[in-house]
Amino acid sequence: MDDIKKRITQLREDFMQGSLSEKEVSDAPSQQFELWLNQAMTADLPEWQAMTLGTVSPDLRPSARIVYLRQFQNDQYWFYGNYNSRKARHLKQNPNACLSFFWPQLERQIRLEGSVELCHDDTSDAYFDGRPFESKLGAWASDQSAVLKNREELEAQLEVYRKKFEDGNIYRPPYWGGWVFTAKYYEFWQGRKSRLHDRITYEFKNGEWTINRIAP
Ligand SMILES: Cc1cc2nc3c(=O)[nH]c(=O)nc-3n(C[C@H](O)[C@H](O)[C@H](O)COP(=O)(O)O)c2cc1C
Repeated sequence: MDDIKKRITQLREDFMQGSLSEKEVSDAPSQQFELWLNQAMTADLPEWQAMTLGTVSPDLRPSARIVYLRQFQNDQYWFYGNYNSRKARHLKQNPNACLSFFWPQLERQIRLEGSVELCHDDTSDAYFDGRPFESKLGAWASDQSAVLKNREELEAQLEVYRKKFEDGNIYRPPYWGGWVFTAKYYEFWQGRKSRLHDRITYEFKNGEWTINRIAP
């Protein structure tokens, strides 16, 4: 135990894999995003589409959790979950949110800031339809973020819905669906030697994206 406490203060990784210049990035941040996401996918990184979603509670306490990015188009990013969950309650009261990706093998981080809306029912239906049957059942069975008495309670709920949908015709629960996040700010971070990392930002103002380099 002492070893971990000592090592955590001493660990110093130098980042050497790449660089990022304001001269080379795409004019549109969504294109730069797609390029980096594509490189994370082609490098076969584990959980390359997992992102941290940050929300703020009605009493202004921030909270973060990982969700999967499921679709993206221009500056819009879709993710899915339960509409009664903690994140749902936060987003209903305060649609401002942030997303971040970290791909250690590429020494890269992307950060996005923006706001979120519920996505169209048709989009949620189409995504739900494409999920495996067991995941569909899970969406029905889990009252996400609610307190459970024990594990058995959850598993019993699963069996209730397995019975309900035993003919295999399962549709999207009314309390489950997607959100679409629209980005207004991006930061692309590429690790460099001696902590002199590259950070390139895009800010949407007066109808256009302004690109800046910021200090590491
Ligand atoms: C790799 C990974 C992917 C996840 N993907 C999702 C997801 O797409 N949607 C979701 O609701 N929760 C997902 N989760 C679970 C969330 O992190 C979280 O536990 C859940 O959404 C409840 O969060 P909340 O109580 O803040 O609403 C994922 C967790 C991990 C570790």
